Amino acid sequence: MIVEELPERVREHVRNARRNGMRVGCVPTMGALHQGHCSLMERARRECDFVVSTIFVNPTQFLPGEDFTRYPRTLEADLRCCADSGADLVFTPQTEHMYAENAQTTVQPGKLAEVLEGVIRPGHFAGVTTIVAKLFAVTEPDVAYFGQKDFQQQLIIRQMVRDLKLPVEIVTCPIVREVDGLAMSSRNRYLSAAERDAAVELSRALAEASRLATESSLSSEEISEQMRNILQSSGQLEVQYAVLADPETLEYPLGRTSGGEAVGLIAVRLGTTRLIDNALIRFS
Ligand code: PAJ
Repeated sequence: MIVEELPERVREHVRNARRNGMRVGCVPTMGALHQGHCSLMERARRECDFVVSTIFVNPTQFLPGEDFTRYPRTLEADLRCCADSGADLVFTPQTEHMYAENAQTTVQPGKLAEVLEGVIRPGHFAGVTTIVAKLFAVTEPDVAYFGQKDFQQQLIIRQMVRDLKLPVEIVTCPIVREVDGLAMSSRNRYLSAAERDAAVELSRALAEASRLATESSLSSEEISEQMRNILQSSGQLEVQYAVLADPETLEYPLGRTSGGEAVGLIAVRLGTTRLIDNALIRFS
């Protein structure tokens, strides 16, 4: 496995691979890798001939006061994880490689970035689209893999790829969970033992929403209310949002739901940690 921090060198490796007729897959990450990230790389390994993982804690997607400085940086373990998952090349740029001092150009997402996470973390998604566009420019992948864990993010990236006519196929991979249902996240390691216990309520609330959508005649608004009740019952979670939204436009509240699809989206604060989770939900 090649580890490379210079964009020009990465581009050379990728172009060589493509000259040899290889299909190139890219898995962008911020490191602190866990099974969720591995699942993306393993999928890329199955579907591509040359797998590039990127590890970069992107400063522009963190708001002032967020966890940029304390974000876990575990490069050695991350590289082992990439090797075990079958990556051919890992791109580990320094900040100056991705952001020149005199850089002026950013990629601004549209309406999809103005709701939910976009309201709570204004500017976050512009940081994401800007870095992902740059990572695509460096790694020139045929296909790139993202997790459903960050549901809004993968929608915004799909929209960016359509709008900018980028020649990249976007694949969204299922959420990998702990045995009790907690979605794996680099931020889970911030949780105290008591907070870790309470964190299971997110997946429980989503499972209940899914059950109510098929087994009850409750409206999407009433189901959202039930999700909020479950989340609040632990007394530890501060609910930022818990809604059922349209899985393509993220609009909510939903109107008619019979036979339709929704995505249940949750964000909470648990002590000083923010957790998000989601699930696709089908109404019977
Ligand atoms: P990061 O949080 O490191 O996540 C990298 C990728 O792993 C994302 O596509 C995310 O959705 C996916 N992922 C995280 N947890 C997962 C889980 N439990 N199951 C499945 N996939 C999971 O998302 C980012 O980094 C950044 O915003 C990035 C796209 C790299 C741009 O900086």
